[in-house]
Amino acid sequence: MKKYSLLTVLIAIFCLPNLFYGQTSITVEETEDAPIISKHIYGHFAEHLGRSIYDGIYVGEDSEIPNKDGVRTDIIEALKDIQIPNLRWPGGCFADTYHWKDGIGPKEDRPSIVNAWWGGVTEDNSFGTHDFLNLCEELGAEPYLAANVGSGTVEEFTDWIQYVNHSEGSPMAELRKENGKEEPWNVKYWGVGNEMWGCGGNMTPEFYANLYRQYATFMTSWENENDLYRIASGANQDDYHWTEVLMRDIPKHLIEGVALHSYSFVEWQDKGSATDFNEEQYFSTMKTALWMQELIDKHTDIMDKYDPEKEIDLIVDEWGGWYEVEEETNPGFLYQQNTMRDAMIAGVTLNIFNNESDRVKMGNLAQTVNVLQAVALTDGADMLLTPTYHVLKMYTVHHDTKLLPVEFDSPEYTYEGESLPAISVSASKNDAGNVNISLVNIDAEKENKVEIDVDALDVDNMTAEILRSDELQDHNTFDDPEKIVVKEFKDFKLRTGTLEVTLPPFSVVVLKEK
Ligand code: AHR
Repeated sequence: MKKYSLLTVLIAIFCLPNLFYGQTSITVEETEDAPIISKHIYGHFAEHLGRSIYDGIYVGEDSEIPNKDGVRTDIIEALKDIQIPNLRWPGGCFADTYHWKDGIGPKEDRPSIVNAWWGGVTEDNSFGTHDFLNLCEELGAEPYLAANVGSGTVEEFTDWIQYVNHSEGSPMAELRKENGKEEPWNVKYWGVGNEMWGCGGNMTPEFYANLYRQYATFMTSWENENDLYRIASGANQDDYHWTEVLMRDIPKHLIEGVALHSYSFVEWQDKGSATDFNEEQYFSTMKTALWMQELIDKHTDIMDKYDPEKEIDLIVDEWGGWYEVEEETNPGFLYQQNTMRDAMIAGVTLNIFNNESDRVKMGNLAQTVNVLQAVALTDGADMLLTPTYHVLKMYTVHHDTKLLPVEFDSPEYTYEGESLPAISVSASKNDAGNVNISLVNIDAEKENKVEIDVDALDVDNMTAEILRSDELQDHNTFDDPEKIVVKEFKDFKLRTGTLEVTLPPFSVVVLKEK
């Protein structure tokens, strides 16, 4: 009789069931030192760009569209429902052209400017600092102000801090009171410019690092000095040199976060339609979305070198899918539809952020309403919620929970000889001790079965939700705003410490312990 080595037998025992059933084994464990998944990973970004602010968020106090202080109530409710943790404003590229004093005081006295980056349209400054910060208060979201470095001054920047954070006794605090706001808003998050390598001034990292040091030195709230959280404008995708220079040249006591921007697209020069795309274009988009893992790993490696204690956070303050604008819309307005492809981008990106939450402490999806990978689209009085919105809502279970590290080998999603990991997973445990697991299958054709070992976690009763549709290109329209909605999911079993889940093609599933 033929003899087999112990190793061969062990390999057979562990691998055969997988090959036979085509099933992927995932282990979820609780570790002592696992980080908290900051709710700020689920943050948003709204720029003065196209119909993001005007029309999308702000319609003015006199509008017939239901509003609170000029802000659409449908948007307020929708954002509250996804527990929006923070909102970055006023840009983007717009931030480095924005002079905040243009947007305070009586609206009729505010000067108009040209929005030089986005369509050359007139910006009347009717939505300004008070409007934005009051909106954040209404939403229960932390404001994240991206301040002007590219065309501003240290004085203008520090005046803004005084205006919004000083309670009294400074000229700016008095000006705020004259403008009707007695108490300060106490803004914690401050971006020191935006994309300084590009629209923020085409600077070298060495030049910007010095400029950053200058700005950061004068950033203080006096009364709550240690509460300011300063974010340096970060790298574009794989510009590792940028991160290296910032980490090397900026003293630790002057910085709390380093940013990173990465968008997903088919090809930057040929982005293709948001809704009319083929599998090749889908595959390419998912390739750039999944690239986020490598980007975070490599930027983190650099940060670890200078900051092994992880005192400085990585802030991915712009991410999302970027396609051609919808036909007959202003090319400078970046208005695009949102399909199941975008749900896939959101699902995998947020799983990456969760799993990297020891370094990634904030993310800002670009952009909230009517621009790029929006969570809501508006048309006059109508509003619809996109597939991306639904993913954000499903993932609220992970806000401020403890990460449960996962281990698995993903099956491959293969297209024309190239492969990507088909499955993406993250898991967490909340304060009540309940376990939540989010799973994405990006395969355009194949369902994938997974077997999740939760034995060590004592999980006993789970419910699940799914976001899926018949076609990858499916999307919600103003005629059919609920074509894609979250549904109850039943295709899973929990038995003796193992969860067996069948994930349909291009679906997002969240399992929640009751
Ligand atoms: O989100 C649109 C633009 O993309 C932002 O203004 C800029 O920061 C980035 O290049």
